[in-house]
Amino acid sequence: MLSSTKPYIAIAVGALIAGAAWAQPPAPKKAGIEQEGYVWNAAEGEKIEALELTGDMENGEEAYEVCSACHLPNGAGRPDGTFPQLAGQHTTVIIKQIADIREGLRDNPIMYPFAKTLIDPQELADVSVYIQTLPIPQDNGRGPGTNLELGKKLYDENCVECHGNFGEGDAVKFYPVLAGQHYKYMLRQVTEIRDGKRRNSNPEMVKVVKKYTDEDLDAVVDYMSRLEWPERTVKK
Ligand code: HEC
Ligand code: HEC
Repeated sequence: MLSSTKPYIAIAVGALIAGAAWAQPPAPKKAGIEQEGYVWNAAEGEKIEALELTGDMENGEEAYEVCSACHLPNGAGRPDGTFPQLAGQHTTVIIKQIADIREGLRDNPIMYPFAKTLIDPQELADVSVYIQTLPIPQDNGRGPGTNLELGKKLYDENCVECHGNFGEGDAVKFYPVLAGQHYKYMLRQVTEIRDGKRRNSNPEMVKVVKKYTDEDLDAVVDYMSRLEWPERTVKK
């Protein structure tokens, strides 16, 4: 039923990408971590509205069609790191990230026009609950595996308290699930977080990764790309 509309969706997405440069207003820019007085996850905006609503699975599935062009129908994204894995992510995290992208607190010019296809906070809640129910695929992109001992040591010292033993994060605290996430995507994110370029970053995490060398980041992310959270993972 839904799949019969896929070719049209693909064409529509193609047209939107082609047209995005001129047809869409540019993404706004909200002050983030680069500004003094930045408050991480401030309790304001449509995020708060969406968090209070109950998501509708059926409408969420329909709203997700446009997203599937990049993130794929099963939410797996791409091992080359261009598009993150989304399946099984906490609704709280998805709502926060999309709201941040929509209001220009997290820069994502490629996705911005598509984030704007969600018509209101209700649809933001709908798509987020749908994504959370997708099982996490097991074939994510992994690192070279050359420095896993250092990676484990760093993870256990500095990351596990927030991202969890299985990479399960924490829904209540807005800490993302990282089990099943692609190595290359995570490497880009931690590098941007360390260098102050992901503007919606958590300052506590920045403090930790600030002292990491590129080699440290690579090792810890390689280790993380092998974490598995049985509760939400595709059963083989
Ligand atoms: C044209 C491709 C494209 C489309 C369509 C798209 N996205 Fe994305 N999305 C991206 C990219 C690229 C990123 C990562 C950007 C970065 O590296 O910071 C991303 C990131 C995300 C994130 C943050 C993930 C994380 O782990 O922090 C969420 C959530 C997300 N997208 C949800 C959606 C939803 C929901 C839709 C549909 C309404 C959608 N995306 C449509 C390209 C796309
Ligand atoms: C204080 C809690 C905390 C600690 C400690 C922490 N993180 Fe995070 N991490 C977060 C939060 C919160 C986010 C999402 C930030 C946001 O709101 O956009 C995040 C995001 C990330 C992301 C990007 C995820 C995505 O889907 O885009 C990666 C990768 C990551 N952390 C890796 C690490 C590593 C590696 C360490 C240890 C060196 C670490 N984190 C330590 C809280 C933490």
